[in-house]
Amino acid sequence: MSGRRAESGDVAVLGLGKAGGALVASFERAQVPIVARARRLAALARRRGHLDSATLFLAVPDEALPGVVAALAAWPALPRAVVHLSGARGLDVLEPLAARAAIGSFHPLASLDGRGPVPAGTLIAWDAHGASAGARLAALARRIGGVPAHVRDDARTLYHAGAVVAGNLPVALLHEGVSLLVEAGVPRTTARVALARLLRSQADNAERRALSLALSGPVARGDADTLARHLRALDRDHPALARLYRELSRVLVDDVSGHDAPTKRRLARALARR
Ligand SMILES: NC(=O)c1ccc[n+]([C@@H]2O[C@H](COP(=O)([O-])OP(=O)(O)OC[C@H]3O[C@@H](n4cnc5c(N)ncnc54)[C@H](OP(=O)(O)O)[C@@H]3O)[C@@H](O)[C@H]2O)c1
Repeated sequence: MSGRRAESGDVAVLGLGKAGGALVASFERAQVPIVARARRLAALARRRGHLDSATLFLAVPDEALPGVVAALAAWPALPRAVVHLSGARGLDVLEPLAARAAIGSFHPLASLDGRGPVPAGTLIAWDAHGASAGARLAALARRIGGVPAHVRDDARTLYHAGAVVAGNLPVALLHEGVSLLVEAGVPRTTARVALARLLRSQADNAERRALSLALSGPVARGDADTLARHLRALDRDHPALARLYRELSRVLVDDVSGHDAPTKRRLARALARR
C-alpha cells in the first residue's frame, strides 16, 4: 500500500447527487480508491463485503440521515468509518454507529452541482471521534485539494451560522438594492445582474486581500457626507432599510475599515444623525 493510500485509505460514497457526485469526481481526480458508490443503501449493501476498511461518506439529504443511519446500524459489519457531509448536523446523528465504527463529518463549504469536483481551495470542515479518524479526514481533504479546518461538534452551529451570514444573507441585501435601483428607474433584470456583479467584485477583492483593504464604497473612503445623504433618503422612504444600513455600516466603520479614530468618529456621527 502506498504511503498516500495508507494515509487516507479507501472510500465509499452513498448518495450521488450534488455533493456525492462532486466528492466522487474529486476522489477520482485525486486517485483515491473508491471501493463502492451508490445512490441508495440497497445498492451499497450489495458491495458490503468491500467496505470493511473504507471510510463511507453519507452524501444523502440531511433529513434522510437518521433513516440511513438506522438501516446501517442493522448491518452485521460496518465500514471502518462513517462520515456525513452535512454542514448543519452534528456527530450525534451518527451515534447509533459509534460503538462499531469511527464517526465523523466532512463539510465542503461550497455550492456543489455534482457535475465537477469540489473546487480547489474549498474549506472542508471536519470533525471525528478519534484522532486517527480525524487525521484521515484531514488527509483526504488535502488530497482532494481542499483546505481542512477542524470544527468541533460543539462549535458546529456557529460555523454553519457564519456560512449563512456571509453566504446567504447578502442575498437579502441584493433584494433590497435591486428594489432601490428599480425605484430609481433601472429595469429589474438589469439591476439584479449589475448588483450581483458588484457583489462578486467585492467578494473577489475579499478573497485576495484583508477586508480592510478589500472594502470599497463611502465607508472605505471616509465619506461621511455620502452616508448622511443616503440616510436622509432612506429615513424618509425606507425606514427599515435605514436601520439595516446604519447597523451594517457601524460594523464596517468600527470593525472593518481600519480608519483612524477621528475618521471613525466623523463617520459614526453621520450614521447617528437623523
Ligand atoms: N449541495 C451542496 O452544495 C452541498 C455542499 C456541502 C454539503 N452538502 C451536504 O451533502 C449532503 C447531500 O446533499 P446534496 O445537495 O448532494 O443532495 P442531493 O443532490 O439531493 O443528493 C442526495 C443523494 O442521496 C441519495 N439518497 C440516498 N438515500 C436517500 C434517502 N433515504 N432519501 C433521499 N435521498 C437519498 C439520493 O438518491 P436519488 O438520486 O435516488 O434521489 C441522491 O443521490 C447533505 O448533507 C448536504 O447538506 C451539500
